[in-house]
Amino acid sequence: MTGTDDIEILFAATEIATRVEAIADAIVAAESRDLLVVVILKGSFVFAADLIRALDRAGADPRVDFITLASYGAATESSGRVTVVHDLSEPVSGQAVLLVDDILESGRTLAFARDLLERRGAARVRSCVLLDKSARRVVPIEADYAGFRIGNEFVVGYGLDLAHRFRGLPYIGRVRGGAA
Ligand code: IMP
Ligand code: MG
Repeated sequence: MTGTDDIEILFAATEIATRVEAIADAIVAAESRDLLVVVILKGSFVFAADLIRALDRAGADPRVDFITLASYGAATESSGRVTVVHDLSEPVSGQAVLLVDDILESGRTLAFARDLLERRGAARVRSCVLLDKSARRVVPIEADYAGFRIGNEFVVGYGLDLAHRFRGLPYIGRVRGGAA
């Protein structure tokens, strides 16, 4: 069974914290004052918690809502179909939305979320991801804000899981032996 010995640190907690502050500064400089942050669960809950507080320090006071989307199940290979597991609690019509996700891989999740919010009448949909795994893109979509680019490797920690484990690691690590 995969343990923390099999995980090689890619981004340490301090490195992530520095990057999150920089992203928050960039968002506050460029985006609407009246932002609705839509957090795509589950993987991005740790990133979102830090980003929201960094946004506050940068002078913003965004509203926050959550949507749970699934495409993976417990495997490390996406099934290719995105489903809404839990929906938002408020309408998004007329809102300037910032979508927050942990990792942009095939692009299916982010594209699904963007299309859904646009269909529901969001005034503007921007996106922020912690990690960009661009080598695996299937749907042509880029995030407006991205923390780090990574290669074609499976990563865990800082909210990201491997079969529901390792979400609580303070760093982001690569699973040795390539679970991807
Ligand atoms: P996409 O729909 O293929 O872009 O995949 C996005 C979702 O897949 C993310 O929100 C993650 O939950 C999950 N995912 C993709 N790559 C990884 C990884 O390396 N580790 C953990 N989860 C991942
Ligand atoms: Mg996810």
